[in-house]
Amino acid sequence: MKGIILSGGSGTRLRPLTKITSKQLLPVYHRPMIYYPLNTLIKAGIKEILIIVAPERAGDYLNLLGSGKEFGVKLTYEIQDKPEGLAQAFIIGENFIDEDDVVMILGDNIFEDDFSEEIKNFQGGAKVFAKKVPDPERFGVVKFNEQMKAEKIVEKPEEYLSNYAVTGLYVYDHRVVEVAKTIKASPRGELEITDVNNWFLERGELEVAEVKGEWLDAGTFDSLLEAQNFAKEKMVDKMII
Ligand code: TTP
Repeated sequence: MKGIILSGGSGTRLRPLTKITSKQLLPVYHRPMIYYPLNTLIKAGIKEILIIVAPERAGDYLNLLGSGKEFGVKLTYEIQDKPEGLAQAFIIGENFIDEDDVVMILGDNIFEDDFSEEIKNFQGGAKVFAKKVPDPERFGVVKFNEQMKAEKIVEKPEEYLSNYAVTGLYVYDHRVVEVAKTIKASPRGELEITDVNNWFLERGELEVAEVKGEWLDAGTFDSLLEAQNFAKEKMVDKMII
């Protein structure tokens, strides 16, 4: 299993904080934000990690994280020229993924859970992690049938489907690269990870697990502040880096 941290994007909602740096390099209590997803992957036993960054910030990431030797892992870097969607990560990461399974985590997502077992037990197809939230319309949302089996995933639904948001940690087998190449950009000009997930779902190959602990994305002023407090209270002793 290889790992990808998607850490590009433009961070427009956090301007001017993100005018001269990347969102995922901002402090979250005692660590730069990206340390949290990096910690999640390292704790899950991932040894080879690709970090995808925006071109103007690549040097900062290299200065901060280097080869990964300090953390006992191998880090490599790729550039995403423009933020053209989460699913583009698998096209950028094609050579890195090769024939292996891959777990992708978003650079601004903070998870309390340990995913070691889930990742160790992955058997192919796709696996996503959902969490009950009060504001599902901001996320990809899972619609369940009567048997509580996932029926489809809808990106930012206008109508209520459920309170289960798909969080920023996804596991796939190597076919994800070819799937990402076949999907078309959405009206907002992005290759949507929801389309990738629905590709696997339609073939009966998508598993939805529930996130048990806290999950935050730190992309707005309020969620960044919440993340800082959460990190101080709950994450300090969970960090191995
Ligand atoms: P978002 O929070 O959706 O986007 P953003 O970080 O650009 O912020 P804003 O909406 O305020 O402009 O992205 C979620 C995560 O995915 C974040 O860590 C950035 C990353 N990302 C990329 O690396 N490339 C992309 O093409 C997109 C859309 C997001």
